[in-house]
Amino acid sequence: MPGLEDQLRKPVRGMRDLTPELYYAVNYVEEKLTKLAEAFGYRRVETPAVEHFEVLARKAGREIVNEIYYFRDKAGRELGLRFDMTVPVARVLSYRLDEPKPVRWYYFTKVWRYDEPQHGRYREFYQFGIELVGSNSPKADAEVLALMARSIEAVGVQDYTIRLNDRAAMDRILASLGVEGSRDEVLRALDKRGKIPDDELFKLLLAAGVDKSSAELLMSLIAEPRPIEEAPDFLSKYDRDIGERYRALIKALEAYGLSRRLVLDLSIVRGLDYYTGMVFEAFAGEYKLAVGGGGRYDNLIELYSGVKTPALGFAIGVERLMEAAGISQMAIPLDYYIYPLTDDAYNVAVKIADFLREKGASVAVDLGELTLREALEHAAKTGVKYFVIIGKRELEKGVVKIRDMYKRVEFEVELNRLGQL
Ligand code: HAM
Repeated sequence: MPGLEDQLRKPVRGMRDLTPELYYAVNYVEEKLTKLAEAFGYRRVETPAVEHFEVLARKAGREIVNEIYYFRDKAGRELGLRFDMTVPVARVLSYRLDEPKPVRWYYFTKVWRYDEPQHGRYREFYQFGIELVGSNSPKADAEVLALMARSIEAVGVQDYTIRLNDRAAMDRILASLGVEGSRDEVLRALDKRGKIPDDELFKLLLAAGVDKSSAELLMSLIAEPRPIEEAPDFLSKYDRDIGERYRALIKALEAYGLSRRLVLDLSIVRGLDYYTGMVFEAFAGEYKLAVGGGGRYDNLIELYSGVKTPALGFAIGVERLMEAAGISQMAIPLDYYIYPLTDDAYNVAVKIADFLREKGASVAVDLGELTLREALEHAAKTGVKYFVIIGKRELEKGVVKIRDMYKRVEFEVELNRLGQL
């Protein structure tokens, strides 16, 4: 039989099979990040992969709406796969209105986007993120930025920058340049900065109705990031309150020892439409794509619940962060592989296995189909610490023979001393 066509043996385009060595690498990162979030007082949340399409589409923004996996179920409901966790969390809080504020929730889970697959861009990927809901304080902004920074550090990346901007400030800046009606189109164009050449971006600005001198000014404003310390004075020129907010934020960031990691970058506008204030993206070392992003979305929850609720958060693209950190595969060796040479020995092997498992070890018992040599080869290939042999002679002596697969030495251990290795 020919079996499946090659193309059908591979996962669906843009998706990945996580075989154990890949899965354990993800799991390692998950453990680090969840431990960190828990230590900051965040609690884990999970929601269904499938949402009402209407919930997803309401405030996603034009580009993301096009990326939603959309379908109808058998009852004709219009549904979609979640493209992030911010929207589902906002939906949950829209019926859990009495949840004590501020709410600190985190997630490590899969999301789906019908994006064009390429390096670092998948159609199914993991996001680790947090949402801090119910606080408008700059200290909340600092906490979220600090947690994002610590998350990046937690997987071993020390060289990273967080680029920060403010949607409300951008509104004022665009208004000062006379850009009003086509604001969304201008923001969408700015979001392409770095992905398309600057002269093309300039043309997009003109096409969005920005006049030539304003477009030139805008290009010069977004050309270079500024040290974050300049943000209060710079932003005050456009809006005093926003400027002062950043003065308070920088103070709070200093408490975390974090301000040197941040720059004010007016080209960061973000593709999602629900942001209302601070927005940011994290870049690690030489890795070109953002490893994380987030911001304030003070109107999103109101859109679902009718109750005004300030909120912010971030999400990290787990696959991207892993790549930036050089974490790709992780084998988990088995503690013991027990090879009984006889049926009597098999009985003892199963009992020994249970005894060792009870002590927390991982133990596999040979199924009787491999020769000793084949079993040793299998153990060497799959990763085993101790290969245990029990035969007639061992049973009579009340011992087992153990081969330390790493040190390549063999020794005998009395049955009652097993588990002390
Ligand atoms: P986002 O910037 O759309 O924000 O996604 C967050 C991160 O997910 C990105 O920085 C990137 O690392 C990763 N990512 C995005 N698309 C892909 C893809 N196609 N393949 C692999 N990784 C990808 C959000 O999702 C917001 N919900 C973040 C947030 C939380 N804002 C407030 N709270």
